[in-house]
Amino acid sequence: MALQEKTSTLVINSPEANPEFEALLDYLKHSQNCDYTGYRRSTLMRRFQHRMQSININSYQSYRQYLQSEPRELLALLNDVLINVTCFFRDRDAWNYLATDIIPKIIASKQPDEPIRVWSAGCASGEEIYSSLILLAEALGIESCLKRVRCFATDVDQAAIWQARQGTYSARDIMGIPPVLLEKYFQHTEEGYVFHPQLRRTIIFVHHDLAKDAPMSKIDLLMCRNVLIYFNPEAQTSILVRFHFALKNTSFLFLGKTESVISRREIFTPVSLKHRVYAKGLNLELQDYSSLINPHKLKASGRTSIVDVPKKLR
Ligand SMILES: C[S@@+](CC[C@H](N)C(=O)[O-])C[C@H]1O[C@@H](n2cnc3c(N)ncnc32)[C@H](O)[C@@H]1O
Repeated sequence: MALQEKTSTLVINSPEANPEFEALLDYLKHSQNCDYTGYRRSTLMRRFQHRMQSININSYQSYRQYLQSEPRELLALLNDVLINVTCFFRDRDAWNYLATDIIPKIIASKQPDEPIRVWSAGCASGEEIYSSLILLAEALGIESCLKRVRCFATDVDQAAIWQARQGTYSARDIMGIPPVLLEKYFQHTEEGYVFHPQLRRTIIFVHHDLAKDAPMSKIDLLMCRNVLIYFNPEAQTSILVRFHFALKNTSFLFLGKTESVISRREIFTPVSLKHRVYAKGLNLELQDYSSLINPHKLKASGRTSIVDVPKKLR
C-alpha cells in the first residue's frame, strides 16, 4: 500500500494536474490561512515532498490528515516551503554596483533634506535591508541617514520577521561584511553582533504577503531578491504591477541574480541587466496595466511570464 501510494504521488510528471496536491493546497488556504495558490507547483511539490519524506509520509492525502492531527507540523512545513536562505551583501558585485552607481543616482535626484525610502520585500532574517542601510549610511553619513532614510522590511514568514527585527547575528552570519563596515555598524556582544541600534530604528519590520497585501508607497529603492522565482507567471505579473505602483518615478528595482523582468518596455527599464537593476518605466498608460494584469493578453504577446527564471530553477 505504502509503495503504491509512493508511486502514485511522489512520481509526478505533470505537477499542475495533481488533484490530491491541489486538495491539500485548498485545505491549507481555507483552514490554515496559508495561501500557496500563486506559487510554482514544481518548486512547491519538491518542498512538500522533502517535508513528507522526513516524517515518512507518502501521500498528500495522508499528509493532510497529519496536518490536521498535529498542529505543530504546519510550522515545520512553513519552514521548508518559505526558504529563508540569505546573507549580507549577497552577490557582492551587484551590491558594489548599487553602492557606486545606483545609490548616488537616488541621492542626486533629491533635495538635500528629502526623505529616501527603501523596501526589502521578502527580507528573510534581515541581512538584505541592513546591507542597504549600511550603503546608504556610507553615502550620506550616519547623521543624515538617520534623518532622511526610512526602510521597510517585509516578509510573509513571521519567524523571519522576528529574527530580522532583532538585528543580532552570529559570527557565521556576519562573514560577508567587510571588517571596516563590521566595526562601524555592529557591536560585538555576548548575544552576537548587534546592528547599530539607532540606524535599526529607521526600519519598520512588517508581516506582509506580496501576493495579496497592498504595496508600500513612494519607494526609491525596492529590493525583491530571490523571491519572485517561487511564484507562477500570473502571480509574478501581479506582484510586479504592485511594485510599479509602489515606486516613485525616479526609482529602482533590484532583483536576484537569476531573475529578470522580460516585459521591460511596459513596466521596468533595465539599468544593468548584469546586476538585475531596473528603473521604473515612466510612461505607463492605463491599457498597459490592463494588459499586464490580464494573462490572456500576456499570452497573446507570445510570452508566458514577465519574469525570466532559468530552467533549472522552474
Ligand atoms: C530565499 S529568501 C530571499 C531573502 C533575500 N531577499 C535574499 O535575496 O537574500 C525568500 C524569502 O521570500 C519570502 N516569501 C515567500 N513568499 C512570500 C510572500 N508571498 N510574501 C512575502 N515574502 C515571501 C520567504 O519567507 C523568504 O524569506
